[in-house]
Amino acid sequence: MRILKTGICAMLLFCCVFANAQNEKQLIVQTKHVSLVLTVGKNNRVYQSYFGKRLLNNADYARLNSTKHEAYITGGMEDQFEPAIKVTHTDGNPSLELNYVSSSSNPSGEDMTETVINLKDPKYPVEVVLHYQAFAQEDVIKAWTEIKHGEKSPLLLNNYASAMLHFDAKKYWLTHFHGDWALEMKMQEDELTTGNKIIDSKLGTRADMYEAPLFMLALNKQADETSGEVVAGSLAWTGNFQFQFEMDEHNSLRLISGINPVASEYHLDAGKTFTTPAFIFTYSNEGKGQASRNLHKWARNYGIVDGNKSRMTLYNNWETTDMKFDQNLLVGLFDDVNKLGADLFLLDDGWFGNKYPRNNDKAGLGDWQENKAKLPGNIEYLVKQAEAKGIKFGIWLEPEMVNPKSELYEKHPDWILKLPNRDENYQRNQLVLDLTNPRVQDYVYSIVDNMMTNNPGIAYIKWDCNRTMSNTYSPYLKDRQSQVYVDYTLGLYHVLDKVRAKYPHLLMMLCSGGGGRTEYGALKYFTEFWPSDNTDPLERVFIQWGYSNFFPSITISAHVTQWSKTATIKYRTDVAMMGRLGYDLSIKKLTDAEVQFSKQAIKNYNRLNSVIWYGDLYRLISPYEEDRAVLMYVNDAKSKAVLFNYFLNTRYKAQFNVVKLQGLDPQKNYKIEEINLMDGIKSNFNDSGKIYSGDYLMTVGLNLSAGKIIPQTSNVIEITQQ
Ligand code: DGJ
Repeated sequence: MRILKTGICAMLLFCCVFANAQNEKQLIVQTKHVSLVLTVGKNNRVYQSYFGKRLLNNADYARLNSTKHEAYITGGMEDQFEPAIKVTHTDGNPSLELNYVSSSSNPSGEDMTETVINLKDPKYPVEVVLHYQAFAQEDVIKAWTEIKHGEKSPLLLNNYASAMLHFDAKKYWLTHFHGDWALEMKMQEDELTTGNKIIDSKLGTRADMYEAPLFMLALNKQADETSGEVVAGSLAWTGNFQFQFEMDEHNSLRLISGINPVASEYHLDAGKTFTTPAFIFTYSNEGKGQASRNLHKWARNYGIVDGNKSRMTLYNNWETTDMKFDQNLLVGLFDDVNKLGADLFLLDDGWFGNKYPRNNDKAGLGDWQENKAKLPGNIEYLVKQAEAKGIKFGIWLEPEMVNPKSELYEKHPDWILKLPNRDENYQRNQLVLDLTNPRVQDYVYSIVDNMMTNNPGIAYIKWDCNRTMSNTYSPYLKDRQSQVYVDYTLGLYHVLDKVRAKYPHLLMMLCSGGGGRTEYGALKYFTEFWPSDNTDPLERVFIQWGYSNFFPSITISAHVTQWSKTATIKYRTDVAMMGRLGYDLSIKKLTDAEVQFSKQAIKNYNRLNSVIWYGDLYRLISPYEEDRAVLMYVNDAKSKAVLFNYFLNTRYKAQFNVVKLQGLDPQKNYKIEEINLMDGIKSNFNDSGKIYSGDYLMTVGLNLSAGKIIPQTSNVIEITQQ
């Protein structure tokens, strides 16, 4: 192998420019265990020659000579399948050819290397830049594209994928996640057949209410948690997305990821650069579990705000009070926060609006002044009272929306997305503000900034978004209506960039009427997300399981509530403890024993949360396969682990096998202790207090189902190195 150029010494490991046996230039995007090899063909086009497990010897890459799959296929030329990019030039020519111009590999810190490939049309002044950031330790690649041109009039971008990947496997199994309000992240796995399978959304604001921009693709055979080749991918875009999986007659699969080309033709002015959102992906040849752990690690290190810092156990009033409260009632609830030993009180919807008080969801949205009848002392009083009682205070906002019954609507009818000559279309009685308009962006930013400036003590913001976009038209964009979905999201990012520049560490929850916005484009500004309004623990086992494929537990807010009328406080708590624990229930409705249990559970959680938040997740038994779910988190040192066992609606005389643990050190001994026990609730675990080797636990396993199983019971087991 001939090395054409290398970066500094460390980069020999993670990026290289080589020549293959045909003396073609090879660009190797490489992490600790994964390689993506791109080859510049003799015709100057760039091809994907390999993607998968990193080869042991760099010299072997020289043997790859495949120039079969162009890396970023252009529309209008000789390829007759779906292109990654399609443009229409000023003269009406609907084709693009992209030739290699130059490339570079730039290390940034010890972990990340960015490979940049500059491409250009030989006949038209259009340039495309492919970016690949390789995160060595996380085995994650982040890919995106920039497009610019020097034509006389705007270039029309018809499709503009973030990235394209090619696979040549025998078979393909696609796992995707779909749902609805209160039914998020239903996991579905199917074998792909020839033709084009599209997973997408067209909802605008509530980006992924029906389909999440997340998938796992198993190659050759179906993967499980510990075996099989898997690509896990995610588009970081808070808007309409599309994944296309197109399998041709030779069994080759091309994957195109990006902004949904539906309703998004973009007029790119000369000299301006269009930057696509990032496609974030990983590869594992050790099954889905490893793919998830890669993404979790990447998210904590790069994908979310302060992913390696602490979080608070919060108490939310939404399910307890709805919008019916006043300041005395709220201050009374602060005492409940203290009784539980939680950290923060989060005031939800209903605190604002005077001309049109926000007493229900029909009025007031957009008028962010404290309602004088409910909060005569303003938010300031509440923050002071919280401080006096030794807890933190957080607040709910829904800055992108407006009720027609509001002063904002009366003052600025031109700030609202709605079709001319058509009736307004409402969801939850509200409309979406036109965030393509810079004045509206400023206004939305000012909602947060005024709140924080007036009340610097606020420690947490819940940012909600309760409708999708429909009958969408922007008064601001005028003749560029096809850009409204894209420019809306860019406008939102502009606002969030400003918020984060001024308040870099503020805890912020991303919420969209439950989990309508759960993706890494928005999460880069947030510390956590609200996965679903459905907090029935039985449902949450499935919902949280789904999210756990892509998001670390520190991001998954999980609250103990009164949604379920039958589940015990223990079951509700144990399920919430696998995520970022919180509460949303009236403790007046709890018995003394339930309050005592909850206090102890919070103490346990505080002792173990670093394992749950930053540890490695091992999903041991899937609720999709048995009437139970078992998972565990293990810390880096493999000295502490926490195991969660949840029985679902088990049948009469249900029988379950022993469960083999994962992720422990076989050489170490561990003490196994059941915690979160509650008087009157029988446990099916008889081995608490015993000591086992890691080898035994992972080879023989633990019996978590001794005796008669009672539906909707659970165990939390603390595992400690001796
Ligand atoms: C939807 C959210 O998902 C709920 O948690 C709550 O904040 C309501 N909005 C308030 O309107």
